[in-house]
Amino acid sequence: VKAAVFASGTGSNFQAIMKTENLSCEIVLLVCDKPGASVIEKADRLGIPTFVFNPKEYDTKQVYETKLLEVLAEAGVTWIFLAGYMRLVGPTLLESFKEKIVNIHPSLLPVFPGKDAIGQAFQAGVRTTGVTVHYIDEGMDTGPIIAQEEVEVLPEDTEQTLKERIQEVEHRLYPAVINTILR
Ligand code: GRF
Repeated sequence: VKAAVFASGTGSNFQAIMKTENLSCEIVLLVCDKPGASVIEKADRLGIPTFVFNPKEYDTKQVYETKLLEVLAEAGVTWIFLAGYMRLVGPTLLESFKEKIVNIHPSLLPVFPGKDAIGQAFQAGVRTTGVTVHYIDEGMDTGPIIAQEEVEVLPEDTEQTLKERIQEVEHRLYPAVINTILR
C-alpha cells in the first residue's frame, strides 16, 4: 500500500510515522501547503519526495485539489494520512479517497475541535484530554473515530508539558492505528 502524509508544520508526527519499523504501508510522498515549513526539510533528509504548493496560487480549492489528485495518482497513492495539515479537505479529494483519509487530533473529539486543541483543553481546566485518530469528512475534525487515548492533565502541568505528553501519545498511537487499519 502506498500512502501520502499531508502536513503543514513541524512534522513530528510525520517523522514518527517514518521511523516506525514494519509500517504496513510505504510513505511515498509528503504533501505540504506551507512553503518553508520544517516538515519539508525532514522529508528531504529522509529522501521522501515532496509536493509543496501554495494554495494562494490557485483560484479555488477545487483547482489545487485536482492538481493534488494528479500528483497522488502519479505516485500511486491510495491512502492519505493527515498530520498537522491545517486545511479542510474538499469534496474533490474526499470523493476520490472515500474512507481513505485519516487525521490525528490532539483532543478527545468531539471536544476541542479546530485549532489549538491543547490550549483549549488547558484553558478549560479539564482533568483529562487526549488524542483522537479519525477518518475525515467535510467538517472540521468531525469524521468517524477510529481510536482514542486519554492523557491526564496533571496539577503541575503547564501547557508545554501537557503538549509534550500528548505528542508522545500521538507519535505512538498514529503508526499503531495505521498498521491496524491497513492489516
Ligand atoms: C499534532 O498535534 C496533530 O494532532 C495536529 O497537529 C499537530 C501536528 O504536529 N493535527 P506535528 O507537525 O506533527 O509536530
